Amino acid sequence: MSRTEGDTWDLASSVGATATSVAASRALASRGPDPLIDDPYADLLVEAVGVPHFVAVARGETDIPEEMREHIAVRTRFFDDVLTDAADAGVRQVVILASGLDTRAYRLPWPAGTRVFELDQPSVIEFKTRVLADAGVTPSATRVAVGVDLRDDWPKALQDNGFDAKAPTAWIAEGLLIYLPPEAQDRLLDHISALSAPGSVLATEHMDPKALTGEWAKQLSALSRRHGSDIDLSALFYTGPRTAAGDHLSELGWRVQVLPNAQAYAAHGFDPPTDSLIAMVGDSGYLSAHRE
Ligand SMILES: C[S@@+](CC[C@H](N)C(=O)[O-])C[C@H]1O[C@@H](n2cnc3c(N)ncnc32)[C@H](O)[C@@H]1O
Repeated sequence: MSRTEGDTWDLASSVGATATSVAASRALASRGPDPLIDDPYADLLVEAVGVPHFVAVARGETDIPEEMREHIAVRTRFFDDVLTDAADAGVRQVVILASGLDTRAYRLPWPAGTRVFELDQPSVIEFKTRVLADAGVTPSATRVAVGVDLRDDWPKALQDNGFDAKAPTAWIAEGLLIYLPPEAQDRLLDHISALSAPGSVLATEHMDPKALTGEWAKQLSALSRRHGSDIDLSALFYTGPRTAAGDHLSELGWRVQVLPNAQAYAAHGFDPPTDSLIAMVGDSGYLSAHRE
């Protein structure tokens, strides 16, 4: 299986399964007497998708190394912090791009008047909306779900659903960029820029271009297969050269900050990752960009 222009999926297939995989990791990291994060709905969503391996991960029934739990905890907290800092600074419009099984619109303590837009492919968005509604879980902000492909004219879909380009916005694109062709990534960042009033912030992953060469995607896939996943990440990623998101955003006038993985780990009291998926991707980490 490989990627094609306009390909689609649900939460058990292709790129959609990666959303279930990270939700399973969040469910796992939310377990136990001293959990690393608290995502109270990840479990429910992964059970509803029903892929046996991910259900087993979410239930803590597989042998997932501590490092993998730490990875998802660091990642989750980074994006949580960007959004809660923006809310504290007065931003009331949030856009979660490629929201997958992200439950931030339900679990973060949003100030009154906050609107959270979630964008993902239609069947992904519809699934999460339905499962949480059926379970009686209600959003903690005004949630606006927009089913759209992020290679298409998503700015129009967003604006048709009430997005206000004059208001500052907090954007996150977590676990998305590598699933977009390089030119679609550039276009996505251009669109975000065009829709971002002063005071906006954007967070995404920083991918170290020096590390993302050769066989890295195959090595990542092999690692995740060793942990029981049958997702072939190397068939889902677009691995060719691409402009680093931070460089592109700097050119568009954003003030860009990169938090390397080692520092992100240390900030939460974890040792830097060693022989793991994270170590394979060099100086990668997390990026936040501000629009002044
Ligand atoms: C690794 S998951 C990350 C999900 C979520 N951000 C998280 O961290 O839990 C990748 C997500 O990107 C979405 N995605 C990838 N390419 C997309 C596209 N072209 N249009 C819409 N959604 C896309 C997938 O549907 C999936 O939900």
